Amino acid sequence: MSSEKTNQSWGGRFSEPVDAFVARFTASVDFDKRLYRHDILGSQAHARMLTQAGVLSEAERDAIVAGLDEIRSEIEAGTFEWRVDLEDVHMNIEARLTERLGVVGKKLHTGRSRNDQVATDIRLWLRDEIDAILAELNRLQQGLLQLAEAEADTIMPGFTHLQTAQPVTFGHHLLAWFEMLSRDHERLVDCRKRVNRMPLGSAALAGTTYPIQRQVTCELLGFEAIGGNSLDGVSDRDFAIEFCAAASLAMMHLSRFSEELVLWTSAQFQFIDLPDRFCTGSSIMPQKKNPDVPELVRGKTGRVFGALTGLLTLMKGQPLAYNKDNQEDKEPLFDAADTLRDSLRAFADMVPAIKPRREIMREAARRGFSTATDLADYLVRKGLPFRDCHEIVGHAVKYGVDSGKDLAEMSLDELRRFSDQIEQDVFAVLTLEGSVNARDHIGGTAPAQVRAAVKRGLELLAKR
Ligand code: ARG
Repeated sequence: MSSEKTNQSWGGRFSEPVDAFVARFTASVDFDKRLYRHDILGSQAHARMLTQAGVLSEAERDAIVAGLDEIRSEIEAGTFEWRVDLEDVHMNIEARLTERLGVVGKKLHTGRSRNDQVATDIRLWLRDEIDAILAELNRLQQGLLQLAEAEADTIMPGFTHLQTAQPVTFGHHLLAWFEMLSRDHERLVDCRKRVNRMPLGSAALAGTTYPIQRQVTCELLGFEAIGGNSLDGVSDRDFAIEFCAAASLAMMHLSRFSEELVLWTSAQFQFIDLPDRFCTGSSIMPQKKNPDVPELVRGKTGRVFGALTGLLTLMKGQPLAYNKDNQEDKEPLFDAADTLRDSLRAFADMVPAIKPRREIMREAARRGFSTATDLADYLVRKGLPFRDCHEIVGHAVKYGVDSGKDLAEMSLDELRRFSDQIEQDVFAVLTLEGSVNARDHIGGTAPAQVRAAVKRGLELLAKR
């Protein structure tokens, strides 16, 4: 064991200094220092409340509040010296305050513990992150609506099993992404309500003997509610898990979206072009233009799922109340928030710049018998049972495969070989426009419905 000296604020009951490696091993300052702004906000609110409660004088409060403001400036100017031997962001800031103010600095921690302090800090931090994430999400949704409006009439093949199924409009396809992101937005807004509850005042675990006024700190910090149980207050990390779950779903959506962009930009599809600024080249193959942004977002999705699994596992074995395990909550949470925010930002920048290749999409929809269902529906309207129609069209498709003709390319005589119910008016339903226009109901692919959905989407965004 090393006997290297450490400088700990809890040193009173110890007869030897903590081992130097253990000090580093247990320290969190390297990653929790990013909470400094929220830590200072929490401390300033706590000091103000202590004055109202008659615990600190007004002069002491003013010195603490101003001192913390100056420490924030030092941190932002890069002149603050972070010390690993002071363990975490909380003790680094408090030690500096005491260095500046002397004995007054030592009074700040009256009636609280790092346990309620850190729980407060993370919630304040996550609240801001969620707001920033919601802003990016909103920007991405705006971009989708704009593109969907412009591409309301653009026809592409819709897929099931990645095989051409029925024609859809590109605008309609884009609006499917809009729907998913709307649910992500709802989930994050809902999650924010539970993030925004105040644990401050729980102290170490049992509450405090000082006459604290929790409604004062609650209001100063903009929390929506005060946590109702001190043991739960210091140990609950549901809010972080819930955020990672919502973030995982959002990333899963972005990952699926990415996969489509990768397919669509490939030489095999060529449905869209992404501007060069979102792609990179190959160091060996001069012809390559790789869709790096979507690929990276697809790849980064795993980190967020990992954060969710990590936090669930972190919590599952913990007895009440605070345990040092909880220090492990921060890195996955930070990483999940950063990853989601950056991915949304990249997508919000990229989506409005997508350039569809309308002729290629249309040609792909024209091939592959994408109006086969329309022909079956046509025969149903002529009075045949659907199952028989399915069979008839199956024969027509087989003939088409053998003769190299799509349904719309067959003559009336050819089509009538499969059913004498087929007449000249069939060609209206076999066209791509006829097919998409016929799906004219809420949630359908008809251009008119795409425009109506864009309008609803804009109204939704305006209400946020
Ligand atoms: N760095 C600690 C954490 O992140 C702060 C709380 C420490 N509390 C304690 N009793 N050791 O959880």
